[in-house]
Amino acid sequence: MTTMTTAVDGEVARGVRAVLREKRLDDAEDDFRWRSEPDLSRYDAARPLSMDYEEFLALYREELLYPSQYRRSLGIEDETGKHIGNVMYYNIDAVHHETELGITIGEPDYWSKGYGTEASRLLIERLLRDLGFKRVYLKTLEWNQRARRSFAKAGFTECGRAYRSGNSFILMEIRREWLDLTEVEEAELATPVV
Ligand SMILES: CC(C)(COP(=O)(O)OP(=O)(O)OC[C@H]1O[C@@H](n2cnc3c(N)ncnc32)[C@H](O)[C@@H]1OP(=O)(O)O)[C@@H](O)C(=O)NCCC(=O)NCCS
Repeated sequence: MTTMTTAVDGEVARGVRAVLREKRLDDAEDDFRWRSEPDLSRYDAARPLSMDYEEFLALYREELLYPSQYRRSLGIEDETGKHIGNVMYYNIDAVHHETELGITIGEPDYWSKGYGTEASRLLIERLLRDLGFKRVYLKTLEWNQRARRSFAKAGFTECGRAYRSGNSFILMEIRREWLDLTEVEEAELATPVV
């Protein structure tokens, strides 16, 4: 039996489990909740948000209306259409064709089930194969073993270390010329729809 899959609104890429789609205003509540959560913020060595929801929503609306040329976020949905996190690229360097990747699966019930690795792969594929980037890099806290494992599975390789404000970070990268040399299985890769 063949299963028909209908593209979700604003769909950018689809994997076996995860779908990447454009951000929208009704993500604001989830994003506010996740960014206010101290347990989640510590994975980014960041402080939880201190502004109230009204202020957050005003800024959120503004960013959707006038997106920055230096950063872009996409929502991650599961197979049922539930918004479970976000993946983003920022510090876009149009001269060197490089960008930094970030990801949060905001719902802890969805951790270690493969969604994060697939979402990262989908974005890497899009950035390196479709959008002309030559290198995608990231930094992750040294103690964040789950993230390090997930990024390694997605094809990233460690390329250095950094220390900032008492935190030790691992730097990782993936380059376009390596794409076919990684263990990423073609069958699991993104099928871009736009
Ligand atoms: C990091 C994150 C995006 C990874 O996504 P995910 O869906 O949880 O990851 P996956 O399930 O695809 O892969 C996780 C891997 O780490 C392994 N893992 C989990 N906990 C681990 C630990 N403590 N030590 C070592 N490996 C661990 C899992 O078993 C899995 O590997 P496997 O498939 O070989 O078994 C997600 O967990 C997340 O958003 N976490 C909170 C925020 C965060 O850490 N963001 C990253 C900041 S750089």
